[in-house]
Amino acid sequence: PGLEKWVAEVPHPSVLDPVGTKNGNPYYEVEMREVEQQIHPDLPPTTVWGYDGQYPGPTIEAQQGEPVSVRWENKLPDEHLLPVDETIHSSKVAYDTTGVRVVTHLHGGNVEHTSDGKPKAWFTRDFEQTGPKFEKKDYYYVNDQSPATLWYHDHSLGITRLNVYAGLAGLYLLRNDHEESLGLPSGEYEIPLVLQDRSFNDDGSLFYPTGDSDTDNDSEKPDPSIVPQFFGDTSVVNGKAWPRLSVDPRKYRFRILNGSNCRFYNLKLFEYDESTGTTRTGGPPFTLVGNDGGLLASPITIEDRLEIGTGKRADVVVDFSDYSGQTLLLHNNAVAPYRGPDINSGDQQPLPEVMLVDVASVDVDDPNQVPSTLTDVPDIPVNSVDEERYLPMTMSSDDYGRPLHLLGSDAESSPHKLYDPVTETPNLNDTEIWSFANLTGVSHPMHLHLVHFQVLGRQPYSEYDPESETIDVESLEAPAPEEAGWNDIVTANPGEVTHVIVHFGEFEGLFNDQIGWYMWHCHMLEHEDHDMMRPFRVLPDSG
Ligand code: C2O
Ligand code: CU
Repeated sequence: PGLEKWVAEVPHPSVLDPVGTKNGNPYYEVEMREVEQQIHPDLPPTTVWGYDGQYPGPTIEAQQGEPVSVRWENKLPDEHLLPVDETIHSSKVAYDTTGVRVVTHLHGGNVEHTSDGKPKAWFTRDFEQTGPKFEKKDYYYVNDQSPATLWYHDHSLGITRLNVYAGLAGLYLLRNDHEESLGLPSGEYEIPLVLQDRSFNDDGSLFYPTGDSDTDNDSEKPDPSIVPQFFGDTSVVNGKAWPRLSVDPRKYRFRILNGSNCRFYNLKLFEYDESTGTTRTGGPPFTLVGNDGGLLASPITIEDRLEIGTGKRADVVVDFSDYSGQTLLLHNNAVAPYRGPDINSGDQQPLPEVMLVDVASVDVDDPNQVPSTLTDVPDIPVNSVDEERYLPMTMSSDDYGRPLHLLGSDAESSPHKLYDPVTETPNLNDTEIWSFANLTGVSHPMHLHLVHFQVLGRQPYSEYDPESETIDVESLEAPAPEEAGWNDIVTANPGEVTHVIVHFGEFEGLFNDQIGWYMWHCHMLEHEDHDMMRPFRVLPDSG
């Protein structure tokens, strides 16, 4: 339906309160429930799934050095809200459980493997049935990493795309005293923005494709069938469709999360004339202060577009002081499916308008600042590398002739599916370069659990030699400004090799609990569900 834009105000997600303590630390219980929520004033209420009955879920606020425990509880109904393709990993997972399978992953968390929320650690309502990797009901987050914008979301085997689309995602903000002392905007001037694309039926229900009409070989295909990717036609921010945000003419800190299934965003603010629906000149720039893994060494002013790949976070400060009384448009020019920052044509599923910002015409004091030094971000030395991994990404097809994006482990072997034997086995305390070679037609946001990495740069695939001993970092195309510091997702564009460097260091407080299995995968959820995901196994320190 053609929903009227810019009616509802962007809500601020609530902050979750612990229900008590466990071993002297905060203890949370979070129920996943089906609820009805008003996504747009003109739509009938939408049935969604929410952590704590809210979509997006409430924000968990944690302090570095203070572990928390969370019992993620499944109170969802018997039937799935969305069309479930029962052929996905059907040999490994039961689709005839009573109730929906869920498991929650803390994305960006340096966590013990038993609390990582891996796909096979799923459980049904009231833990009645559990997956083969289910270990415990209460997850333990040690919170020994630097302050960062983390998020939690569902990761259940074969249905992650559906569970997250139904609403199972929320933010997890980790803080510490140093960050607090910087004087960045806080309190009501620090606002999480969960960006998602959704589509709706006229009755208000979420639309998700059944995949029955988009290819030629329909006869063989299961019904419903997974789709190669999903893009919604409606911008939803913090659970409201086409919303607007009221701000004062001062600095704000926005914790932006791209929580879409497949969509990328390339964001810029423009002055906007609402009566004619046209943009004028550019608005205030984003000052990036942090990304996935925490604060940058120093703030970076993004002069042009801020790219936020699927699943990524951007921690930005925007100063509205010169825009008193103005309306601004948060504009997106990323094509969908995404093919890189420079490609602006051939967009099949555009979503140029994200939200409006109304800057009040008032006089305000703004004591907040963005210091020129934020924190220490030491470079991981390239000469300390223990292993270089060539990881080609290729196209294949599944038993039904449907496109499959797969991940490989070297130039020789055929690409792997999720259940092929593990090929990535870093030792604890090793440093590795992972080189993602994208031989497919679209960009993939590549994600590793447990760790954060630094982006070394990119090069054309044609210029890359996987046999060569070392990567010449100087010859690479430098990372984009917003890729500074610590990342847990990197955009691998088609035709390019994207190199990241990662240290599988010992996280204080985890000790040997990080020796175990984690996942790495494309964060486009339709790809992830459909075999573009692999395990990695952290082995003991090789000494
Ligand atoms: Cu955000 Cu393996 O996930
Ligand atoms: Cu992908």
